[in-house]
Amino acid sequence: MSSYLTRKTAGDTEWFTKSRFGMFIHWGLYSMPARHEWVKCYERIGEEKYDKYFKYFNPDLYDPKQWAARAKAAGMKYAVFTTKHHEGFCMFDSAYTDYKCTNTPAGRDLVKEYVDAFRAEGIRIGFYYSLIDWHHPHFTIDQLHPRRDDKNAKELNEGRDMRIYAEYMRNQVRELLTNYGKIDILWFDFSYDKTDEEPYASYDWMTGKGKDEWESEKLIELARSLQPGVIIDNRAGLDQDLWTPEQYQPLEWVKDKKTGELLTWEACQTFSGSWGYHRDESTWKSPEMLIRMLVNTVALGGNLLMNVGPTSRGYLDKRAVDSLKVFEDWMKYNSRSIYGCTMAEPEFTAPCDCRFTQSEDGKRLYCHLFAYPYAHLQLFGLAGKVDYVQFLHDGSELLFTEGKVNHFSFGASENKDLLVVELPPIKPDVIVPVVEIFLK
Ligand code: GLC
Repeated sequence: MSSYLTRKTAGDTEWFTKSRFGMFIHWGLYSMPARHEWVKCYERIGEEKYDKYFKYFNPDLYDPKQWAARAKAAGMKYAVFTTKHHEGFCMFDSAYTDYKCTNTPAGRDLVKEYVDAFRAEGIRIGFYYSLIDWHHPHFTIDQLHPRRDDKNAKELNEGRDMRIYAEYMRNQVRELLTNYGKIDILWFDFSYDKTDEEPYASYDWMTGKGKDEWESEKLIELARSLQPGVIIDNRAGLDQDLWTPEQYQPLEWVKDKKTGELLTWEACQTFSGSWGYHRDESTWKSPEMLIRMLVNTVALGGNLLMNVGPTSRGYLDKRAVDSLKVFEDWMKYNSRSIYGCTMAEPEFTAPCDCRFTQSEDGKRLYCHLFAYPYAHLQLFGLAGKVDYVQFLHDGSELLFTEGKVNHFSFGASENKDLLVVELPPIKPDVIVPVVEIFLK
């Protein structure tokens, strides 16, 4: 058994850490301007102009069965869908607002169709729910709000009451956790302080928002009462089940800063930079980087939540499909080094340019070759511990020697700890080849 124990929390994280890989889906009205899901904030767009998107939102090609099939093929075991993003638009048929998809040309509950399609593929269901809301009339104007630069911004806040908004959120979370069957993850987003950094410092009378504004204790209590096993992230400003490093890769297992305890964590990453569909973005990650990200994450005991931003017509564009295909091709033959795997025990140190993962039961060690070495893979500390070695992608045997290097070289000396795996001189046609090591 793995010796790494993470902090116990209320949510059921057991299936989650075994699964390791999920799909994030950012979809909303912002897929129409197609220049970042924060466009309303960045460009300070007023309601009247933003209403154009509401008026014309028509995802006529939305077929979540296809998304689910692609997610499954890519090896993703769960999904997290934006039921409402910061723009405030609801992708579900809420009784508490008119600002929802059923009142647009879309004319149907898009969350429901997502849930049905993904569940049918055996994929676990997550809901992202934005705490920030740039549409709700009681959400006060702060330094992130699209109207922060209005001349009368301060006056606009008169009469706005965050307590009414907090109640609105509870009502919607109740709907989301009641009307769609079992929900596995609830992903709140996010809390922020007033910072001293420009450009925000100049908004001197504005404040940040966090657990007090969201009334997070009540919100979370409600969520747990409706869905006892649900995994909840930390972004409502209270430590819960899940730590969520965003758009960076941790260099070690995420720990509690004070106690040093290991935590359950999930890196979230985009294919191209923005979360929502961005037509003109050209910073798409290379296939190598995508696979390495997944491997690096699992090698440090984490999960990877990889994002797609569907178009406003409701399909995944070619660039997203191609990126998912990278995972599909690799996972088809190599997923055994990912599912049910975690950071290798401290006694094992991966060689240069390699990453280890290890199965939970400790019996298999996986060496991921980020750079393909010539002919020999030298593994220190493994001599005497290994029963059998093969390439994972094709299950072909890899011969090995122990205690000595089995080739002529000056100064080659005996080393009792050393195990040397003989590799074919040409790298197999796999982005990141994996050496599967069966331990004694
Ligand atoms: C952020 C962004 C956002 C995105 C999210 C994903 O905090 O505000 O647009 O949804 O993180 O992690």
